[in-house]
Amino acid sequence: MKLTGSAALVTGGASGLGRATAAALLHAGAHVVVADLPSSPGSVTEELAGAGPRVRFVPCDVTDPDTVQASVDAASELGPLRVAVSCAGVATPGRMLSRSGPLNLDAFARVVQVNLVGTFNVFRLAAQRIAESEPVDGERGVLVATSSVAAYDGQIGQAAYAASKGGVAALTLPAARELAQHLIRVVSIAPGLFDTPFMAGLPQEARDSLAQQVPHPARLGDPAEFAALVRHIAENPMLTRSHPPRRCHPDGTPLRNETGGRRCRDGFAVASRTDRAGNGLGKFSGRSGVVAVVSRAGRQPLRIGALGPRPGGIRDRPTPSRS
Ligand SMILES: NC(=O)c1ccc[n+]([C@@H]2O[C@H](COP(=O)([O-])OP(=O)(O)OC[C@H]3O[C@@H](n4cnc5c(N)ncnc54)[C@H](O)[C@@H]3O)[C@@H](O)[C@H]2O)c1
Repeated sequence: MKLTGSAALVTGGASGLGRATAAALLHAGAHVVVADLPSSPGSVTEELAGAGPRVRFVPCDVTDPDTVQASVDAASELGPLRVAVSCAGVATPGRMLSRSGPLNLDAFARVVQVNLVGTFNVFRLAAQRIAESEPVDGERGVLVATSSVAAYDGQIGQAAYAASKGGVAALTLPAARELAQHLIRVVSIAPGLFDTPFMAGLPQEARDSLAQQVPHPARLGDPAEFAALVRHIAENPMLTRSHPPRRCHPDGTPLRNETGGRRCRDGFAVASRTDRAGNGLGKFSGRSGVVAVVSRAGRQPLRIGALGPRPGGIRDRPTPSRS
């Protein structure tokens, strides 16, 4: 999809991954609304001010339908809304059962509310607006969510965060299947560890230790690297989560970047789409960001999903058992 002249909405765009994403989309020629909490660093607009009227900051709480709607409206004033990237998120660690007792239920609910409900709130309102636009080159737009490697490999103290990010990963597929009829793609990214203010709370020693546990490259990810992936997702119409193999991959992974993670073995892992015969092209896997396509058919998965005639019309086709 051509970004030049299109409008993009980036929530959590005042910091970290969202900020880098806003800059990358601006660089690609899009008009960008940075939607973030009123208390977020206002310096983002100064930093991006070189783009002139192509960028706007809109105070927004992703859990609040009114301010998200205002952000969508503001983006539409800049151009046809084609891209919505959900980067707003909170981590708030806490053990389920600590010395002081069970985790406060409100603390758990708040993380889920911001990360999961907030993502859905942005998706539903942005989708409505994108669906009203004229298709260009066979598509109307794309929604990008930020999950986390914690969705698959949560650590102690991450029950709320992992649950929220698992929810983001899980909603991606039904959203992509549903919105395909509107020519809207939906993709989630599950980043490993990136060097953002999110990580700033950790002592340098801990950050260095985490970085050293990454096989290659042994460092935290640069937000610009995440942003480059978002830009690629927006520009590459073949990237969507709507045509995955069914039940042939244990985690049904969305775009998953574990290069910055400490428990990773793969670089990127993607469950993407089916080939022309309807066989699932299961997992893009590879070390250190080298992306390769592995046909699950070639690997003889237990079952392979084949696409039905319409979006959402999935039927299962048994394949030979794994020997
Ligand atoms: N940094 C990492 O290593 C990492 C890894 C995996 C996933 N993520 C995810 O990436 C996303 C961005 O993280 P980051 O590292 O850039 O963090 P960050 O703290 O730098 O940025 C998060 C932004 O979200 C905003 N925000 C928080 N609550 C909000 C709300 N209710 N409404 C609107 N905006 C809100 C904050 O103001 C902030 O600007 C988060 O969803 C996070 O869970 C980060």
